[in-house]
Amino acid sequence: MRVEKNVIAALDIGSSKICCFIAEVKGPGSIEVIGIGHQASKGVRSGNIVDLRAAETAVAHAVESAEMMAKDRMQGQQLKSVLVNVPGMQTIPHQLSVDVKIAGHEVSERDINSALAHSRSVVVPGKEELIHVIPAGYTIDQTRGIQEPCGMIGQNLGVRITAITGLSSALRHLAAVVGQNNLELDGFCSTPYASGLASPVGDELQLGCTVIDMGGGTTSIAVFFEGRLVYSAAVPVGGQHVTNDIARGLTTSITDAERIKTLYGSAHTTGMDDSAIIDVPPIGEEEHSLPNYVPRSLLTGIIQPRIEETFELVRAKLVDSGVNQIAGRRVILTGGASQLPGLCDIGQLILDKQIRLGRPQRIKGLAEATGGPAFSTAAGLLIYAAEHADEIPLTSSGHTFSLPVPFNSPVLQKVTHWLKENW
Ligand SMILES: Nc1ncnc2c1ncn2[C@@H]1O[C@H](COP(=O)(O)OP(=O)(O)OP(=O)(O)O)[C@@H](O)[C@H]1O
Ligand SMILES: [Mg+2]
Repeated sequence: MRVEKNVIAALDIGSSKICCFIAEVKGPGSIEVIGIGHQASKGVRSGNIVDLRAAETAVAHAVESAEMMAKDRMQGQQLKSVLVNVPGMQTIPHQLSVDVKIAGHEVSERDINSALAHSRSVVVPGKEELIHVIPAGYTIDQTRGIQEPCGMIGQNLGVRITAITGLSSALRHLAAVVGQNNLELDGFCSTPYASGLASPVGDELQLGCTVIDMGGGTTSIAVFFEGRLVYSAAVPVGGQHVTNDIARGLTTSITDAERIKTLYGSAHTTGMDDSAIIDVPPIGEEEHSLPNYVPRSLLTGIIQPRIEETFELVRAKLVDSGVNQIAGRRVILTGGASQLPGLCDIGQLILDKQIRLGRPQRIKGLAEATGGPAFSTAAGLLIYAAEHADEIPLTSSGHTFSLPVPFNSPVLQKVTHWLKENW
């Protein structure tokens, strides 16, 4: 018997906006968004929850709007649970290589699971929780690049694993915000991973690429190779830092600085624009009666160093990670702050890679306004929920996490099961 609907929901708690997507999974690779709610973020700074009550209220508004929009399509079903992002700053990537003796037998699911279970060893009890266990590649004896080892025969199975842990305190705060809204938690997904799943096209993930999500308070980095996440990280700089620099540098309000950035901002001088003049409302003046003209080159001169700093920090992370070489030269830049003109040119120079701009792909039902780069994380959370639920670790007790909240994650397993049964 076919189950009528498989509804999943994603909650992106960002530094600038909080966004809820409700979607219907219609088949393998077919996800249609049926409800969207987003709202200016409250109680979040650089991805960290700094005011639980304010964050709870903002989440409530975003979820309510999404539920309202999805009402007809959900046919009276209530939204029960959500998958939530964990900011990259609150996650730690671990790379492991595990060998399992198979002594001439066929490789079974059990062998793979026993290898994956080693990822528990990276957890610092009381401080971190495992949030992703991703098999990043297999070898059998001398044969590398094996995609699906089950049923293959050899002496030794090697499993490369990307395990990602999240700081327990951050996870508890996220769980509390979700719980206060009477929602259960389907699991966590790190922001870099979610954005990374959303914006690549064709065989970019397979060939190797780096996805950089420039948000409001953070810039997230995800590196993929052979279709799997091999590294993720974040740096605590984003578009809000650019806005603050403009507000200080031009002595104007944050609101005006944001407007000026969006209208006239550029990450590097183009020569032609240098002579252009912009009007900057001085801070504290009730009525902006007298114009306050400044050359646009001054604005660019404020923005450029911050963008250079951001790419330098990203480069340092990539070089330290040891995956910079296998990541190749392909970079996809996404996130709300990626919309600043001139970013690709600077990024290309500093990272010495080929950069293109990216936005959510593979998700149906997104309008122009909600299909932009600021929504890559929310879209990627849906892809993760629909296609990667098996990467959510289970503890030996069968529970996903040891968090003190109702943690009952049937939905994701249900979606995977539903896909297997129906397709
Ligand atoms: N057209 C634009 N040009 C330049 N910057 C823009 C533009 N539109 C939005 N931004 C910037 O994008 C940033 C917000 O991006 P986004 O919505 O991806 O952040 P977030 O996901 O809430 O934050 P984070 O991921 O850091 O927690 C803001 O700093 C905003 O100024
Ligand atoms: Mg974001």
